[in-house]
Amino acid sequence: MDEEILQLLRDHSSEFLSGEEISRRLKVSRTAVWKGMNRLRTQGYEIKASTRSGYRLIQSPDLLTPSEIKPILKTKWMGRTVHHFHSLDSTNSKAYQFALNGAEEGEVVIAESQEKGRGRLGRQWFSPHFLNLYLSVILRPKIPPHQASLITLMAAIATADAIQKFLGLLPLIKWPNDILLRNRKVAGLLNEIHSEMDRIHFVILGIGVNLNIDEKMFSKEIRKAATSLKMETGRTVSRKAFLQFLLQELERWYSIFLKEGGAAILKAWRDRAQIKGRRVKVTSFGETLAGVAIDVDSDGALILETEDGKRKRVVAGDIQYKR
Ligand code: BTN
Repeated sequence: MDEEILQLLRDHSSEFLSGEEISRRLKVSRTAVWKGMNRLRTQGYEIKASTRSGYRLIQSPDLLTPSEIKPILKTKWMGRTVHHFHSLDSTNSKAYQFALNGAEEGEVVIAESQEKGRGRLGRQWFSPHFLNLYLSVILRPKIPPHQASLITLMAAIATADAIQKFLGLLPLIKWPNDILLRNRKVAGLLNEIHSEMDRIHFVILGIGVNLNIDEKMFSKEIRKAATSLKMETGRTVSRKAFLQFLLQELERWYSIFLKEGGAAILKAWRDRAQIKGRRVKVTSFGETLAGVAIDVDSDGALILETEDGKRKRVVAGDIQYKR
């Protein structure tokens, strides 16, 4: 019902709408309307009330609810169904359940905070309320499972492009899929697949972007390695406006992947990562290797030339750049 009240207030944003009129249109009591207004106010909506004239919407909060997002979305199909939650364990886990129950390609799960936000390699993803973006997108590509890592590369390119188009900053990708600004991580991706031997049922694209978090909120361990769009620009960014850019870029890059295949994705990823020829230290399954990054292959694996001149494929892990 709150959504319906909001819709009415939005449709009449230049005038007052009486409580009586709202209760008549929504077929609820005047008290129910009054309670609804109070609930909306606690969510951050500024609603002016006048005993004579009724209610008028003055300002909306930067919430990522369907009613806030839908009017500004520019995508054809991605994000047209939004499952919004104030708090979740993890948007990825929720999206996985939705997908198992038949959710369609392009449906997204968004939470204002995550209690157990998950990062790569079993790490946690710090997910405080109302500051950042925690998003999971359900995709159902008709590709064999060994190509799934191309979807991860595709999502990293789309996230970097969204940041660039939104603010004019120039993010780089650090293998496998960290998005960096001035060498600090601003966004991360955790993609999970559900598949058989030769067929993917669905992919959950999990994307976390640090938007308005301040440096002092990060734990000491990650403070020097993490950043946010607010820290980079010195101003608060609109979360819903950024989400609109991100969904648009994801839809665009996913369609490039489906039409042009992996080569287009690998090329864009290489341009963004600028990893070729760089000296790196790689930590993978408890082992540390040093060498020169030669390339990423079509599975997204890092090809490393180690100091003894041997070539190695590294499928998972973290890298550090060495000077
Ligand atoms: C990383 O370690 O770099 C990946 C971080 C991915 C975080 C996002 S936030 C939305 C989605 N839900 C999760 O639990 N994780 C991903």
